[in-house]
Amino acid sequence: MANINIAIDGPAGAGKSTIAKMVSKSLDIIYLDTGAMYRAVALKAINEGIDTLDREKLAVLVKVIDIKITYSGSEQHIFLDGKDVSKLIRTPEISIGASNVGTIPEVRMKMVELQRKIAEENSVVMDGRDIGTYVLPNANLKIFLTASLEERAKRRYQEQIEKGNTGLSLEEVMKDIEYRDRNDSSRAFAPLSKAADAVEIDTTKLTIEEVAQKIMLLARG
Ligand code: DC
Repeated sequence: MANINIAIDGPAGAGKSTIAKMVSKSLDIIYLDTGAMYRAVALKAINEGIDTLDREKLAVLVKVIDIKITYSGSEQHIFLDGKDVSKLIRTPEISIGASNVGTIPEVRMKMVELQRKIAEENSVVMDGRDIGTYVLPNANLKIFLTASLEERAKRRYQEQIEKGNTGLSLEEVMKDIEYRDRNDSSRAFAPLSKAADAVEIDTTKLTIEEVAQKIMLLARG
């Protein structure tokens, strides 16, 4: 049977990863969080003292970067140069860095190559910013999730507290998200945008279960 590819795009905090995980579990297919790949590039750059907006240096860095994705059950692990960095990449500094490296075409080309290979070999729910528009233009189903800035900031702030991190205030979380929204939507190459054939769902007033149910109905056609 042909592979199923489902694309879920949208800005930070719209609910992509939670929903993508639920949908992939229920369809018993893998979930690829493409943001983790940009985060791994940012981590490597920061570790090497490279500015995350330095195109020349990042173009060289992605030529030698070793990123591998593995799954234990439905959980994705990302390895950078042989080391599991799945937890290390979840910091505010890396969120901004990932948004910055994502503006660099050479970085995107390399990540997209890896993402397309995974989608060719597996049925996958892939979440990101450019999946429906650029990475998988022929995906079986494309979803574009949105939510108000306030709601998205609140969700990210809450997540941070639940993880026991007392890092940023709600205002700082909102500022970071605003920066990333602007950066991700305004870059020249494969910016965050809704594909013409994507179904848009505003999750501001919906529960996770309601959103997942809508998508499952669409996926089952
Ligand atoms: O999904 P996330 O919050 O983990 O993504 C972090 C950043 O990575 C996001 O602000 C922009 C970049 N990114 C991207 O440019 N393209 C993708 N497909 C996924 C993420």
